[in-house]
Amino acid sequence: MDLIEKIENVKNKIPEIQSANLEELEKIRSLVLGKKGELTTLLRGLKEVDEKERGKVGSLANLVRTEIEEQIQVRTKALQKEIINQRLENEKIDVTLPGTKHRLGHMHVLQQIQNEIEDLFISQGYRVVYGNEIESDEYNFERMNLPKDHPARDMQDTFYIDSETLLRTQTSAMQARIMEKHDFSKGPLKMISPGLVYRRDDDDTSHSHQFHQIEGLVIDKNITLADLKGTLQMLIDSLFGQGHAIRLRPSYFPFTEPSIEVDVSWNKVDSSTEDSDIQWIEVLGAGMVHPKVLEMSGIDHNEYSGFAFGLGPDRFAMIKYEIDDIRNFYLNDLRFIEQFKQVKK
Ligand code: PHE
Repeated sequence: MDLIEKIENVKNKIPEIQSANLEELEKIRSLVLGKKGELTTLLRGLKEVDEKERGKVGSLANLVRTEIEEQIQVRTKALQKEIINQRLENEKIDVTLPGTKHRLGHMHVLQQIQNEIEDLFISQGYRVVYGNEIESDEYNFERMNLPKDHPARDMQDTFYIDSETLLRTQTSAMQARIMEKHDFSKGPLKMISPGLVYRRDDDDTSHSHQFHQIEGLVIDKNITLADLKGTLQMLIDSLFGQGHAIRLRPSYFPFTEPSIEVDVSWNKVDSSTEDSDIQWIEVLGAGMVHPKVLEMSGIDHNEYSGFAFGLGPDRFAMIKYEIDDIRNFYLNDLRFIEQFKQVKK
C-alpha cells in the first residue's frame, strides 16, 4: 500500500467519529492527529517520497487532517447540544404546580391587647417605658413602701434570685425608677409600663406564675381620684365599647392611699338597668400615690399628687374574648393562638 492510500485510509475513521461520545472523540483525536498519531506518523515518511510527489501527498494529508478535525468538531458540537437538551429536559419546571405555602405568623393575642392599650395612652400624652423582669428588692418592694418585714409582702409570693434580687412581682417597680428621674419643669409625669411579672402561684384556670401587667402613673399638681376614675372609664370604653360601667371599691395597697379595686360590668348598663342585674368583674388595682412613695423618690407631696393603677391585660383578654383558662396564653398551642389573627373590636 503506498503512502497516498494509507493517508486515504485514515478517512475510514469518519463513521467511527460520527457515532463516538465525547471521551471516545478525545481518544480518536490523539490516535489520529496527536504527536504519535497515525497521520503524524505517516507524514514522517514524507521524506522518502519522491520529490515530485511530495507536494501532492502533503496537501492530501492536510485535507484529510482538516476533514477529520472538522468531523470531530461537528460531532463535539452535536454532543454538547445533546447534553444541554438533556439537562433542560431533566430540570424542567412545571410552573403550573401549586407552590409551597408559607405560614405567616401574627401577633399573640396578649401583645395585641397590650398594643391597643399602649396606643390609647400614647394618644393621651403618656410615655411608654419597659422595665426589666429581673429587679432589685429595693425598687420592687422597699421604694413602694414595703419594707422587708412588711406583712403585705405575703400578698406577692416572690421568686428570689438572691436576697436583694428577684423576678419582679409587679410593674409598680417602674414607678420609683421613673419618678426619681422626672423633671417637673418639663411638664407632668404620665407613663405606662407594660411587661411580664412573676409570682409563686400554683397555676390553675385563673392563676399563672407569669402574667402581664400594665402600670399607669400620673403625677402633677392637683391630681385627684376623679382624674383616675375618668382615665379608667376612658380605658374601659375604648377596650370593651361604650356602656360598661365601672365600680370603685376601697382596698389596700401599701403604695397608694386611698387604694381602690376596680370592677367592670360584664354586661352593658344604662339608666334602666337594675343594680342586681349587673355582673361585676374585678380588673385592676389602683389608688392615689402614697405620700411616702413620693417622698422616697424626691417629690414634694405637699405640692404634687398622683394616681397609679396596675391592670392585667391577661384578665382583659379573658373578658373580651371569653377565654376561661389563663394558661391558654402560655401553652403556645397554635389551635388557640390562631384564633386571634386580628384584633376584634
Ligand atoms: N401592683 C399592684 C398589684 O400588682 C397593682 C397596683 C398598681 C395597685 C398600682 C395600685 C396602684 O397588685
